[in-house]
Amino acid sequence: MKALRVDAVLGLQWGDEGKGKVVDTLACRYSVVARFQGGPNAGHTLYHRGHKVVLHQIPSGIFHEGVYCLIGDGVVLDPEVLLREVEGLRMLGIDPLERLVIGENVHLILPVHIWLEEVSAEGEKIGTTRRGIGPAYADRYARRGIPVAWLDRSDFRQRIEELTAYHVARFPGAPPPIFSESFWMGIELLRELPRVRLSEWLIQFDSVLAEGSQGTMLDIFAGTYPYVTSSHTTIAGVLAGLAVPPQAIREVYGVTKAYATRVGEGAFPTEVFGEEAQWLQTRGSERGSTTGRLRRCGWLDLVALRYAIEINGVSRLTLTKADVLCGLPQVKVRTGGSDTHPEYTILPGWQTLEDASFEEFIRFIEGFTGVSVWGVSTGPSREDWYERIAV
Ligand code: IMP
Repeated sequence: MKALRVDAVLGLQWGDEGKGKVVDTLACRYSVVARFQGGPNAGHTLYHRGHKVVLHQIPSGIFHEGVYCLIGDGVVLDPEVLLREVEGLRMLGIDPLERLVIGENVHLILPVHIWLEEVSAEGEKIGTTRRGIGPAYADRYARRGIPVAWLDRSDFRQRIEELTAYHVARFPGAPPPIFSESFWMGIELLRELPRVRLSEWLIQFDSVLAEGSQGTMLDIFAGTYPYVTSSHTTIAGVLAGLAVPPQAIREVYGVTKAYATRVGEGAFPTEVFGEEAQWLQTRGSERGSTTGRLRRCGWLDLVALRYAIEINGVSRLTLTKADVLCGLPQVKVRTGGSDTHPEYTILPGWQTLEDASFEEFIRFIEGFTGVSVWGVSTGPSREDWYERIAV
């Protein structure tokens, strides 16, 4: 039997680096594309036959026939979102159920988890996506959550009701959460999906692409705590979330934009404001694909990027959205200073991505981080892409 090979695509900033596009480009080279953490807080935007599709729960490999899509153990899953997503894909002529598989240790996001983000002010302070992510992981780690392995238990519904009652009792007076019909339809849909023990299921394949959500700076340990998400967005999350050994990891694709964005609260040393921010927001369509919020924008922070590359062991750096900066006379990158007083290096801008000054920008990133830029995304669609180093 061939040894299992796992490559990972990870965000190196605060999410929204364009990972979905990179996964979509690489997917056809793998047997399985697997989500390993997060939940419907993610919004991976893809273009399929001219249609813009945003995936929240289903791995971005779903557009490639013959590629299995795994929702791995580290994920928290909202059955209602899954149902909507499956229906949306069916309208595009794709039946995800033919290739979608779910880890038995995936935990459910219940209506009460979303409700908790509304009734407690905690989510507001962080600026969460309000998809119930924090409360669902909190229950998971407090050992009162509901894994999908329990779907067939006779007390499944009772467990959900007990957990809901436990939380509702903490907020007397608040109108209780609503269990919609589509939540239960989503549960029925989950029952139709193959539920697997990852360590047994994955060994039948030779190659897996692990698809990260959010970014390194939002990791619960390595990120800008407390302004982070509730899961491991880093390479560590791949091992735990997919139940694979470290020896299985081969290439680590790290994705960064040519500038930086952040949604929600928390430190953002290179943030720009006013006209500069508006220019980037408009040119880069920097609006959250899950929440519709305008993203905060700033210059590329090479100090943060180097940290993210180091802790993830990135072997193949991928640069996205450099086309957004076309036409600027000069671009800035942070190369030092403190978070409150960042220092910048100013580099010449580029008119097109064929300009020598763009290559100079790439070389500068490589020199600072010590890693080669492997892939460059030049626009939103699948074809807008080139690899600098042949695989
Ligand atoms: P949560 O993951 O909804 O709990 O939100 C925690 C923080 O992570 C907030 O600042 C969110 O804006 C941010 N966040 C969560 N998911 C994403 C994402 O997919 N892209 C960018 N930011 C995200």
